[in-house]
Amino acid sequence: MTPDLHPGPRHAETFDRFRAALDHRLEVVLGATSDAPSRLRQASSQAVLSPGKRMRPFILHLVAGRMDAAVLDAGVALEMVHSASLILDDLPCMDDAHLRRGAAATHVTWGEATAILGAVGLLNQSFGVLGAVEATDAQRVALVRVMSDAVGWNGLVAGQDYDVNGPEGTGSVDHIDRVNRMKTGVLLIAAAEMGAILAGRSDDCRAHLRRFAGDLGQAFQIADDLGDALKSRVEFGKDVGKDAGKDTLVARLGPELALRRCLDLLLQAQHALEAAGLDFAPFHWMIGQVFDRDLLIARVGKGAA
Ligand code: IPE
Ligand code: IPE
Ligand code: MG
Ligand code: MG
Ligand code: MG
Repeated sequence: MTPDLHPGPRHAETFDRFRAALDHRLEVVLGATSDAPSRLRQASSQAVLSPGKRMRPFILHLVAGRMDAAVLDAGVALEMVHSASLILDDLPCMDDAHLRRGAAATHVTWGEATAILGAVGLLNQSFGVLGAVEATDAQRVALVRVMSDAVGWNGLVAGQDYDVNGPEGTGSVDHIDRVNRMKTGVLLIAAAEMGAILAGRSDDCRAHLRRFAGDLGQAFQIADDLGDALKSRVEFGKDVGKDAGKDTLVARLGPELALRRCLDLLLQAQHALEAAGLDFAPFHWMIGQVFDRDLLIARVGKGAA
């Protein structure tokens, strides 16, 4: 095979094309005629269409290996769920954050009631989108099941409850790992699973992909927690210092060990992806875009790299 000496621009192009198609599809779904009050529709659209990194749909796309209507609609559902989780996460009763994706958080602009209703609406409508994906009945059922597990009592909402209210019993590094997996990892795992379902990948491959996305999710939450401590509000596009006093891996281990753990997890994720038989190159590019590895290494200090 001819070595790909300049892969960056090619992956950037793939991402830009995917992002444009996804955002277009998001606009169509969010703009669908509805009797909902215009403030609810505007609040929901602003939250979803604001410039997020679109990492979860991109993972789905790369695992599926194609960009058709089914992949785009499954990506739309993922981004709706993710955006709903961010709206709820920023509420005064949760992280009490004011800035999200470089703009005012949903509850700041539209009030808490509309923010909560907007998030509940997005979560529910996302299942309607998944139920109408152009795929076989069995694939549609599997997609809905994966998303429901990711959001529900063993997933995102459970992780967020532990995160806000603390552990039942004694906290430990394992407990923080578990919370991070539930609040963040499960949606990345769902993205990989959904791509695998649409591509008809084998059970064996899917098991490797779950390990890949799980490790990536753990690494991502550590990087996010490091960003909370080490980045500026402008660099981060969201509030910083929100984890002060919280039991995160950065607080437990210190920034150097936490960053070391993050980088080890990324390597582990690469090995899992390779075991699944997928090309790591486009994922490597994506990780470069979303992790700010060099900035974190520079700010944590030399010992971490
Ligand atoms: C933020 O996720 C929430 C976490 C799980 C840390 P992202 O950093 O992917 O958020 P957007 O979509 O790019 O805004
Ligand atoms: C939240 O983690 C993960 C979610 C489910 C939204 P954070 O609370 O650290 O996310 P940010 O930093 O506000 O994006
Ligand atoms: Mg939070
Ligand atoms: Mg938060
Ligand atoms: Mg954070």
